[in-house]
Amino acid sequence: MTITATNPTPPYHRPRRNRKNSAVRALVEETKLTTSDLIYPQFITEGSNIRDPIHSMPGIYRLSLDQLLKEAERLVEFGIPAIALFPAIPKELKDSTGSESVNPDGLLQRAVRLLKKSFPQLCVITDIALDPYTNHGHDGLVGDNGEILNDPSLEALAQMALVQAEAGVDMVAPSDMMDGRVGAIRATLDQNGYFDVSIHAYTAKYASAFYGPFRDALGSAPSFGDKKTYQMNPANSREALIEARLDEMEGADILMVKPALAYLDVIAKLRAATSLPISAYQVSGEYAMIMAAAQNGWLDGESALLESLLCIKRAGADMIFTYAAPEIAQLIG
Ligand code: PBG
Repeated sequence: MTITATNPTPPYHRPRRNRKNSAVRALVEETKLTTSDLIYPQFITEGSNIRDPIHSMPGIYRLSLDQLLKEAERLVEFGIPAIALFPAIPKELKDSTGSESVNPDGLLQRAVRLLKKSFPQLCVITDIALDPYTNHGHDGLVGDNGEILNDPSLEALAQMALVQAEAGVDMVAPSDMMDGRVGAIRATLDQNGYFDVSIHAYTAKYASAFYGPFRDALGSAPSFGDKKTYQMNPANSREALIEARLDEMEGADILMVKPALAYLDVIAKLRAATSLPISAYQVSGEYAMIMAAAQNGWLDGESALLESLLCIKRAGADMIFTYAAPEIAQLIG
């Protein structure tokens, strides 16, 4: 007998049977996005009662610390487990070595103390890199010829981690891409008894155009050159495996890929290569693109956000930094 669509004979697989209604679709669903996967990045600023809008990131503000507490309360209410903090440092406090980064009473350290006191259950993550604090906007120290100095930067980054640990942070997240920084930070934290402070490493951080809105938010765009001598070349994915191996050996607890959507292959590669948890950062430019198109009525913003985040999980991420965390939490409840 001939096999046709109207007269099938086993084995004849019809994949549509597993899509026929929402109950069946739910049963066969391979990937789930949950509120407990989300990390909410927030920008902070001095002052009180300030919600200073970032125009390239609709719905995102530079928050004074009283407003940050309100945001944190919302996160706890929604069940979002973590917040990541980025300080907008006044120009007057920026210098060539980023000295404000180790001020125990600096904006970021005060924010950490306040959050951990008010919401001990919320995981607080801080960034380790000099760019918010330097007048040149680079993540490391700069030599006389404009070169980004690797080994001298390690000490500065490790001290920054120590000051953040003293303030009570749960995880430090080195985003600077200097070689050896995870090891240097781990050693300094351990020597000072901060064995429990985790290192959430920006393992495969690419030199990406998608960071533009973030640099608007912090006024941290490099004043000369670019970040290509330390952030990775978007053309390379095998190199991400080298970074992952090094970060793992140096003591990282979580490995991150950043940006996310254009780098799903890198997330998948890392997932296969390590047993450590993988995180992904849906960066400012990814968020801005979706929000801009949604504001124009060109696509459905909520669906586009949900789909992007789901696909980032499907690629292998266990957790995602996203500026849409509260909206998503409300949608998926
Ligand atoms: C700082 C840092 C950057 C981002 C996170 N940490 C910017 C950069 O490297 O220039 C980008 C995050 C985003 O775009 O949302 N080193």
